[in-house]
Amino acid sequence: MTTAQRWVATAFGGPEVLKLVETDVPTPGPGQVTIEVRAAGVNPADHKHFAAGQDPGLLPLAIGYEVAGVVSALGPGTELASGGGTGGDEVVASLVNGGYATALTVAAADVFAKPARLGWAEAANLLLVGTTAAEMLAVTGVADGETVLVHGAAGAVGSSVLQQARILGARVVGTAAERDFELVRSLGAEPVGYDDGLVERVRRAAPGRIAAALDTTGSDQAADASLALVADRGRIVTTAAFGRAAADGFRSVGAANPASGPFRARARSHVLALAAAGDLIVPIARTFPLSQAPDALSLLRGPHPAGKLALIASE
Ligand SMILES: NC(=O)c1ccc[n+]([C@@H]2O[C@H](COP(=O)([O-])OP(=O)(O)OC[C@H]3O[C@@H](n4cnc5c(N)ncnc54)[C@H](OP(=O)(O)O)[C@@H]3O)[C@@H](O)[C@H]2O)c1
Repeated sequence: MTTAQRWVATAFGGPEVLKLVETDVPTPGPGQVTIEVRAAGVNPADHKHFAAGQDPGLLPLAIGYEVAGVVSALGPGTELASGGGTGGDEVVASLVNGGYATALTVAAADVFAKPARLGWAEAANLLLVGTTAAEMLAVTGVADGETVLVHGAAGAVGSSVLQQARILGARVVGTAAERDFELVRSLGAEPVGYDDGLVERVRRAAPGRIAAALDTTGSDQAADASLALVADRGRIVTTAAFGRAAADGFRSVGAANPASGPFRARARSHVLALAAAGDLIVPIARTFPLSQAPDALSLLRGPHPAGKLALIASE
């Protein structure tokens, strides 16, 4: 047993409820791995995890679903999910609990060799958005030669959707603020603004049929535009507009969809292979020291630059 520092939510609310505490890191048993964290990925799911209005019986809550780091110990007879594994290996882990930490012990089934071409910040932010994007494309059946609409194309999930759609051979029209048009173009998509007149603007950009619409913004505007442009509601999906999806009969992915967890667990190898081959990049907006996790979450909750945020636990 060793000790580590980790962030926990001691109450429900905003980033001010987070506290950095000393915690035990269990010696890994069979099927477990201890990781010295180099970087933790930062996702909107992290602040939603301790948002106000939940059952106080759940507290304290460890925060953070994905990390990149170095194996410090493996349990007896244990292999990483990607095979093999020994002390000193560079790895990524996702679907973990408490990634905002200097070290943690996790299930080996969630630990994979880190693609060598990714830095720590990129690797720590690859899997949550990458597997979400893969799931959005799979549930809407996006195929070679189709034209699809992506709402929030410059966002973290959106930019992974753009790259993976291009790999599938689809053409993408993506909504974004004008300052992010170059990023959207660099990821192989055609940007359109998301101010008034969105439906007409998309029709002008893609005069043929829009086969599917993938929304990462959760806005009513995006839901309305998707419904106006895509006749088959089975080919509209959102990561955030759950009420609209239920009311209007289109798809959603995430915690409330029982198929999402198993799909994403399986999709990790595919997403890692794309990154290892140089076909999937993770734009990073900014890194923070682990000690500044509340500042990172404050930035993420408001207007923020395109690209992901990472917490650097050690270099
Ligand atoms: N269900 C799931 O499993 C799942 C998984 C991952 C993420 N999510 C959710 O999906 C959402 C996006 O996550 P993310 O990590 O990609 O966040 P993000 O990086 O902040 O991206 C959101 C993007 O949407 C843009 N945007 C905001 N309003 C828009 C609008 N009306 N039209 C077009 N673009 C708009 C933002 O750009 P501006 O700078 O222009 O505002 C930003 O680029 C969050 O709500 C997150 O919680 C859900």
